[in-house]
Amino acid sequence: MTSIVNPPRDPNTLSNYNNFLTTHTTVSFNIDFEKKIIGGNVQLTLKSITDAAAKEILLDTSFLNIKNVTLDGKTPKWELLPRFEPYGSALKISLEDGVQNGERVQLEMTTETTKECTAIQWLTPAQTRGKDPYMFTQCQAIHTRSVFPCQDTPDVKGTVEFNIKSPLPVITSGLSTGVQDLSQSEGSSSGIKLYTFEQGIPIPSYLFALASGDIAKAPIGPRSVVATGPKELKAAQWELEDSTERYIETVEKIVFPYQWTEYNVLVLPPSFPYGGMENPVYTYATPTMISGDRENVNVIAHELSHSYSGNLVSNASWEHFWLNEGWTTYLERRLQAAVHGEPHRDFSAIIGWKALQDSVNQFGDSHEFTKMIVDLKGKDPDDSFSSIPYEKGYTFLSYLENQVTKTKWNKYIPHYFTTFARRSLDSYDFKANLLSFFASDTTACKALNDVDWDSWFYAPGLPPKPNFDTSLVDVCYDLASKWETGKFEPRQEDIKGWSANQVVVFLDAVQAFERPLDKRASRTMGSTYGFAKSQNVEIVSRYFQAALKAKDETVYKPTADLLGLVGRMKFVRPLYRLLNEADRALAVQTFEENKEFYHPICKNLVEKDLFGKGFKT
Ligand code: BES
Ligand code: ZN
Repeated sequence: MTSIVNPPRDPNTLSNYNNFLTTHTTVSFNIDFEKKIIGGNVQLTLKSITDAAAKEILLDTSFLNIKNVTLDGKTPKWELLPRFEPYGSALKISLEDGVQNGERVQLEMTTETTKECTAIQWLTPAQTRGKDPYMFTQCQAIHTRSVFPCQDTPDVKGTVEFNIKSPLPVITSGLSTGVQDLSQSEGSSSGIKLYTFEQGIPIPSYLFALASGDIAKAPIGPRSVVATGPKELKAAQWELEDSTERYIETVEKIVFPYQWTEYNVLVLPPSFPYGGMENPVYTYATPTMISGDRENVNVIAHELSHSYSGNLVSNASWEHFWLNEGWTTYLERRLQAAVHGEPHRDFSAIIGWKALQDSVNQFGDSHEFTKMIVDLKGKDPDDSFSSIPYEKGYTFLSYLENQVTKTKWNKYIPHYFTTFARRSLDSYDFKANLLSFFASDTTACKALNDVDWDSWFYAPGLPPKPNFDTSLVDVCYDLASKWETGKFEPRQEDIKGWSANQVVVFLDAVQAFERPLDKRASRTMGSTYGFAKSQNVEIVSRYFQAALKAKDETVYKPTADLLGLVGRMKFVRPLYRLLNEADRALAVQTFEENKEFYHPICKNLVEKDLFGKGFKT
């Protein structure tokens, strides 16, 4: 189903998607590890949606090398318009005659990426600690345009076919349709194979994904495999095999049957810039999730939930990102509660509330980016990224659930996902849908009348704090208040039997002290509880943050070392900020040494954090 979108709801695209919609994309790419480029042929099927007979097609591109363009087999007039930061260069294809409303055209382009590509990270064999190179994409929010020309907006969805030639195994966001050995036919022993995939459910551009490297696979459930480096495979399988199918079955009960056939996980090299990315068919995940204690599998509950919120039902623009992440955080916590017990919902929400407070403090409590709906005109969505859409969104949905009662809300959940499946929506569509669902229920209607929609949507800063069930965290708060007195003799046993996430809550409480820990106390804490040596990055990174605030020099070097080992922005950015405050020279030196280890998105953001806006090396 398509509708006329006029004017475009998404301010972060240069495409004229109010005139044409991409209904299908076929990419046929070669992965060239030596030149570090991917390129080949891209075909877009574009459907006209205006009577006005638009005289041009505008597509998003960023730092691409475009060589050839044909439209329905003919060569049209085309040009790359001047770069317009931060959105790239529009590719303009002139149409001699317009295209009738409802008619389709086939646009074919020969294109390749360049060194400036912001979506792809290329890793040398040394960087993967193996014998082969590796590459992967991270396209959310607006980086697909640096891989191929497209309508790079979540407001447009189409099916996708992938034909990828590579000397190493390939993973995409489609279902595999086969592998063909091309070595013989090309008369070489290059080992190059053609990997083909299909995504038959219409997806937005940001869910395009590609990875290639020395990747092995092992089952983690009846419809799931984990893929990662052969040496890391066993540990990854152990971490995930217990929970994956349980989570899938649970989310199916809350919403409806899983639509994407397979749910697989690709565990990436440590420079992967996020905890997880919900690419269809294959969730991409940070290796820091493989902590050996199954304590970080909430990443899977989260990314799996995106199979509904985000992937099936998508935010129409990054201004309404809370619809993706708030709904996903909501489903994630419902899964935690169903699988591990009801108190785990608030256990996770308490950790989330601290992240929300930190984000609000970071931006300042009247900042535009602390609103649930943000104004992104002229802005880069990556700059607005924070815990706010996740946690304000979650708090809002939980509040609505409470207003109408859980039993009734449970009925609304599948209704929402059914109504908007395969479509994109904004916050106003959501509001209208919710109100109409409860229109004939007078009690629910009355409760919804009390909702102050404008404040939730547009007020900056923190929302009202919910009453959390603190049963799993009371021990953590107790221990933290003993530390706060400053007169406490800690012992290793203080945290005996605690889960890693209880330690996380304890460290979050310590960080929130009115008077920060002093150097000596921070050092004692690290040595008594063994935090500095923890294998769980959620713990070490929080401990280092507390110790950096205490200006404890003994953690400066270990922090710098950690910054050379993980590239997940959630850890990297706060650690650089604090290391910069404690020892700027070391922060700058650490960044210079490691910048090629980071994914381009991470490198650019840390550069901005350390050197100010728009810094270019
Ligand atoms: N879709 C996000 C990651 C993302 C957001 C990438 C915006 C690019 C732009 C993903 O689902 C996510 O939220 N990841 C979290 C996982 C966590 C909440 C379990 C992360 O990376 O920390
Ligand atoms: Zn998410």
